[in-house]
Amino acid sequence: MEQETERLVSGAAVTGDTEEQAADAALRPKRLAEFVGQPKVRDQLSLVLAAARMREAAPDHILLSGPPGLGKTTLSMIIANELRVPIRITSGPAIQHAGDLAAILSSLADGEVLFVDEIHRMSRPAEEMLYMAMEDFRVDVIVGKGPGATAIPLELPPFTLVGATTRSGLLPAPLRDRFGFTAHLEFYDAADLEHVVNRSARLLGVRIVAEAAKELAGRSRGTPRIVNRLLRRVRDYAEVKADGTVTLEIARAALDVYEVDERGLDRLDRAVLHALLKLFGGGPVGLSTLAVAVGEESETVEEVAEPFLVREGLLARTPRGRIATAAAWAHFGLSAP
Ligand SMILES: Nc1ncnc2c1ncn2[C@@H]1O[C@H](COP(=O)(O)OP(=O)(O)O)[C@@H](O)[C@H]1O
Ligand SMILES: [Mg+2]
Repeated sequence: MEQETERLVSGAAVTGDTEEQAADAALRPKRLAEFVGQPKVRDQLSLVLAAARMREAAPDHILLSGPPGLGKTTLSMIIANELRVPIRITSGPAIQHAGDLAAILSSLADGEVLFVDEIHRMSRPAEEMLYMAMEDFRVDVIVGKGPGATAIPLELPPFTLVGATTRSGLLPAPLRDRFGFTAHLEFYDAADLEHVVNRSARLLGVRIVAEAAKELAGRSRGTPRIVNRLLRRVRDYAEVKADGTVTLEIARAALDVYEVDERGLDRLDRAVLHALLKLFGGGPVGLSTLAVAVGEESETVEEVAEPFLVREGLLARTPRGRIATAAAWAHFGLSAP
């Protein structure tokens, strides 16, 4: 998935991109009321948090699921902020040994939020330790090796686990069942993304006209992280080529330069569709043949380009191969044979 992190239109954070990290931090809503869209999640979460505050107890463990860039990390910070408790941030891949987890758990403060990003990528032994910690606020720390090893029970302070996952289907049932509340984040509609981009522009001090905000929203694949990223690229263009104001013309010209089209398709997406239409008459064609035609690995086509194309109803996966839909023909201004 290395490839995906380099794309302008990927919902995943770009690892090691300090500009993006700084922007993420500056643009993250701090309160639930500032969190745009996702009304169902917001309502449910605000009840969970209000009840916990009334009881002066840590709320149930919370699972946040949904594609990258939709606000899972943001929500975990909002949860801690609304509860006025500290937050400890870690991730599944960082917890490889049960001992790593034991060290984190035993140093949690009373009521602290423990945020485990990519929780589906935790190791098995750590996962099993987590079950007990979530349920009984207790862990058994194994000291020593072999026949002489002993389990030392360790009491934990009450804490709230907030887990985030892009693949809730990969979570083992015993783990999933231990969350008292699960929030599924959905892709955002255009109006919500417009709201996000206007808010971000205000915070970054970027002047943007309403039509330009709408244009960016329409090209952002339902994803706040993408709309914020497009805003930064369009701002660069506006500053270099004009007086810094993002007008509709500037937004369009900038997005042309970055090869993000009106529907948010980028070069790879278009190459895949174009090959499917022009070389294979709309399919069906096998994945590996299609991948060779665009000069990419099958996995790249399947994991990076196809999910969005399928979601947009431009491409369908069938047992006989990939086929283009009528919408795909129309997108390229072609008529289906
Ligand atoms: N509902 C929202 N309202 C405003 N901004 C949002 C919202 N959701 C996400 N963002 C913005 O998108 C960026 C990515 O969100 P993040 O929480 O890191 O996504 P995830 O953890 O799901 O990948 C954040 O920097 C934040 O500024
Ligand atoms: Mg995240």
